[in-house]
Formats: sequence, C-alpha cells, structure tokens
Amino acid sequence: MQGKRRIISAGLTEEDIRIENNIRPKLLSDYIGQTKAKENLKIYIEAAKERGESLDHVLLYGPPGLGKTTLAGIVANEMGVNMKITSGPAIEKPGDMASILNSLQEGDVLFVDEIHRLNRQVEEVLYPAMEDYCIDIMIGKGESARSLRLDLPKFTLVGATTKAGSLTAPLRDRFGVVHRLEYYTVDELLTIVKRSAKILKVEITDDGAYEIARRSRGTPRIANRMLKRVRDFAQIKYDGRIDTDVAAYALTNLDVDEEGLDNIDREILRSMITKFDGGPVGLDTIAVSIGEDTGTLEDVYEPYLIQAGFLKRTPRGRMVTENAYKHLNMPYQAK
Ligand code: ADE
Repeated sequence: MQGKRRIISAGLTEEDIRIENNIRPKLLSDYIGQTKAKENLKIYIEAAKERGESLDHVLLYGPPGLGKTTLAGIVANEMGVNMKITSGPAIEKPGDMASILNSLQEGDVLFVDEIHRLNRQVEEVLYPAMEDYCIDIMIGKGESARSLRLDLPKFTLVGATTKAGSLTAPLRDRFGVVHRLEYYTVDELLTIVKRSAKILKVEITDDGAYEIARRSRGTPRIANRMLKRVRDFAQIKYDGRIDTDVAAYALTNLDVDEEGLDNIDREILRSMITKFDGGPVGLDTIAVSIGEDTGTLEDVYEPYLIQAGFLKRTPRGRMVTENAYKHLNMPYQAK
C-alpha cells in the first residue's frame, strides 16, 4: 500500500493513475457517445486491418475533456499497436520530432496533443513523414551540406487540437480522417458516470448519477472528476452511497451550480454584466477584467457558455444572453 500512495506526478499517486487508466475505455465498444466518429473509425480500422496496412492519419478536434486522448488510445488498441504520446509545445526542435518519428515501429500510433502549437520548422518535418513516411536530414554545414533521406515505418499520426482553425492548411490537408468531437448529452454522461462508478466500486443510484451528469457541462472529464469528489463526500459525510441528495450537497459545496457552471463561468458572466453592461465586449477585455488568460477563456470556458446559451458571439464582440441574467438573478433590460 505504501508504494501505491507514493506521489509520482502532479500530486497523483500510482493508485490514482491506475484508477484513471481503468476508467478510460480501451475498446470502441466501451466508448460512449461520439457516435459518428466512433462508427466511421470502426470502419476505417477494420478496413486497414483487413488490408494489413496502417490506419490513415487522424485529426480530432473540439473542446477539452471530450475524449480525444482516450479515442487515440482506443485506435492504437484496436489496431493492435503501441501509442507514443507527445504534444505540440513539448517538441521544440526539428531534431526532436525526427528522433520521435525514428523510434516508431511499423503501424504505431503517434499521438500529438495540442498539435496547433507545433512550431513551423517542426511541422515541416511532419509533411514528408506523413505523406511519404520519410524524413530529410541535413548532414554537414555550408558547401558540403547534404540532405539524407531516412525511411520511416508506416505509422499513424493522431493529432488533437482545441483550435482546428489555427492549424496550417498543409498540415490539415495531410490528415485523411478528420472528426470534430461534440459535447455529450446528459444521457450519455449518465451512462459514463454509472460505468465509472462501477469501476471505482462506489454505489450510486440512477438519480445520483443523473445529478452529476447534468452538471458536467457535457464533458466526461468533468463528470468523472465530480464523481470522485462526490464519492469523498459520500464516504465521509454519509454512508458511502451516492444518491441525489449526496450529489447535490457535494456539488453545491464545490460551487458547481444547477447548470454545471463553476465560479469562473459565473465570474465571466457577472463581470460582463456589471462592467460592460452585458456586452458587446472583446475577449481580451473580458480576460483582463477577470484576470484569466485569453486562450483559456476562449478554449475552455467560452465554448460551453455558448453551447449552453449564456453567451453569444457577435461581430462587435461577446454578449451575455437574457438567460445568463436570469440564471444569475440579475435584472435584464432588453437593448
Ligand atoms: N470515460 C471518459 N470518456 C468516456 C467515454 N466517451 N465513454 C466511456 N467512458 C468514458
């Protein structure tokens, strides 16, 4: 037990990581939601396997927490190959990318998270690698410099991004399969929460699972995180079982409201109303007014606030909706 509690990264124990890995589905048939992406990938995987080929490169995009990494892992699993994981900002030099590519085995999946953050020189190594499975290495300097072509195994690049629009056209065009992941419905999240509870061996009622599902902003990562926190409340303050009351009590304690909005979501809306009369106001200005980074605001908070109908984009800037005023109990005056 002592060993399992050893903290190995970012406050996570080996036990936390084991549970995290257990909760993640390993097969397409265990993966809930994203029906379109799932059905198409199933066909592409079956076809590639039947031909004895590697799968074409896959680009997955959409808001954070919707299962891009999980899906990449499933692709590798279903293809029966290994997956190497890296991310755009982690690869600084073309040589780093070349050595990662060179370390792959035939058919392997290379997962590059935040692929829109690759720098230009690194990205250029990817072009021939994706298209012709080779890299060109420069040897020597000046007059005697020569380019040497190195063949690579046939691999599958799975790229993930929250910002498909920031991808350069040449990179985007080299993906044969492109899927946008959508926010999950409450029913899908309900199934995910019940599945995770079973793996965590925590007793939960349908109503309790529903309470967590409907406050999870359409996002499995949030649903699973909430489930673990609610489990703590159930264990310490109640008899260990999660029902509606326990879930509602715990989530209110975590400042997650009836619509699943947290403190920062509400701060964004409140600040827009009190400081900018509900908008229109620019994203940078909102970010400064609440002390949050513009990128985080745009990629993490804004998509759900728009999807849930609390915020809208207009040509003149962001505006809060009448719904937001109602939700915050603030008086609304039509403009
Ligand atoms: N856990 C996280 N995402 C999931 C999904 N889409 N299906 C099943 N379990 C999950």
